[in-house]
Amino acid sequence: MSSTRESLHGLWSSRWVFILAAAGSAVGLGNIWRFPYLTGENGGGAFVLVYLGFVLLIGIPIMIAETIIGRRGRRSPVNAILLIAEEESLSRHWSALGLMGIIAGFLTLSFYSVVAGWSLAYVYFVLTSSFATANSLSSEAIFTNLISSPVQLLFWHTLFIGSVIWIVSKGVSLGLERAVKILMPLLFVMLVLMMIYSLLVGDALSATKYLFATDFSSLTSDVILLAVGQAFFSLSLGMGALMIYGSYLPHDASIPRTCLIVGCVDTLVALLAGFLIFPIVFAYGLEAGQGPGLVFVTLTVAFADMPFGQVFGFTFFLLLTVAAWTSAISLLEPVVAWSVESKGWSRNSSSWLAGCLIWLIGIFCLLSFNELKDFTPGGRNIFDWSEYISANVLLPLGGFLVAVFVGWRVSRMTIASEFGANSAKLFNSWLFLLKYCAPIAVTIVFLNSSGLDLLFR
Ligand code: PHE
Repeated sequence: MSSTRESLHGLWSSRWVFILAAAGSAVGLGNIWRFPYLTGENGGGAFVLVYLGFVLLIGIPIMIAETIIGRRGRRSPVNAILLIAEEESLSRHWSALGLMGIIAGFLTLSFYSVVAGWSLAYVYFVLTSSFATANSLSSEAIFTNLISSPVQLLFWHTLFIGSVIWIVSKGVSLGLERAVKILMPLLFVMLVLMMIYSLLVGDALSATKYLFATDFSSLTSDVILLAVGQAFFSLSLGMGALMIYGSYLPHDASIPRTCLIVGCVDTLVALLAGFLIFPIVFAYGLEAGQGPGLVFVTLTVAFADMPFGQVFGFTFFLLLTVAAWTSAISLLEPVVAWSVESKGWSRNSSSWLAGCLIWLIGIFCLLSFNELKDFTPGGRNIFDWSEYISANVLLPLGGFLVAVFVGWRVSRMTIASEFGANSAKLFNSWLFLLKYCAPIAVTIVFLNSSGLDLLFR
């Protein structure tokens, strides 16, 4: 029977490995680097609240839909969609959704790898002496020095993407299963410990107020678009990462339950990161809205003052790099699985080819902090454009199409059999969110945002 079709690339050994792998994909720079910096730039509480709303009402339902496509099709996203479209007598053009995901993956990974390179650089910096005596001024200087040096950035970016390509070329489950099983829980423990420290020594009250006081005056349509984009980015939606991981999911695992766990873990980690960063920001008088450098600057100050700061700092940045690494793997995997299946290339050459292309785009991203700093068409540099187009346009658009495809086009029988829960109420609520809430919300947010005018002007 087609619903128990064999996977072309093997299966996870259990549902737990899927949970760990999907959480490994979801938890990454999006939670620890991007969530705090966007929160800081957009005034705190209101942004956080809208973000949480989007995660719950449209993010998790779309996550379930993506996993359903993956497990039903048991192929890379493009071919899984194609197969389902054929079975359901739908247009083959739906596979464009998978192709769009591939483009989104390329673009996302190219800037992602640059930021992951910063984290890798900090693993090294934390061991040098200037780090131990850093204050708010010198920690800014450490960050500025790093991003103004193309050579340093190139080195760390290359090291990071190289290791991602290497592991993907070896096949996902082998390296990934082992890495996520130990390191992800360790990262979690580390975050909790550091959050406790930060709440004790930092300005916990101001941070809590900042994160939860909902001042709706800061909530413009662009901020809402950023919150949608962040929900998709953080949950790894809209580009096929969860389709590919879903395609390795054993048939008897409950998709809704599994996705709910992953969504909650992801959100929890983002909130932990918020409670870790902002008490320090306020206690040391740092600038909350300083942008992408926020986490790096803030943590440097914290580690310098902390007992055993170097040990903590080293472990923290190492684990952050690993978290970025497990996310990056999931960004590259759909492309590679697709070219292995469709082009008949080997896993090895597919990984290196796609990876090198991403590395190349990444070079333009890293140059936007130095040599190409003044190249800002439409008010954004290349790095900002990659981040903007992938997180705020391609991922939500991909998610929108997933919602329409699964919610409106695939037959109810098929999705019900994959959804697999025995509660009709749960199924109906999910289907309602997927069919109506998700597409309508994304459409309204898109139509209202001035960013889109900019894009198509
Ligand atoms: N969710 C990852 C993070 O938060 C990034 C990512 C986006 C991974 C899209 C895969 C797909 O870091």
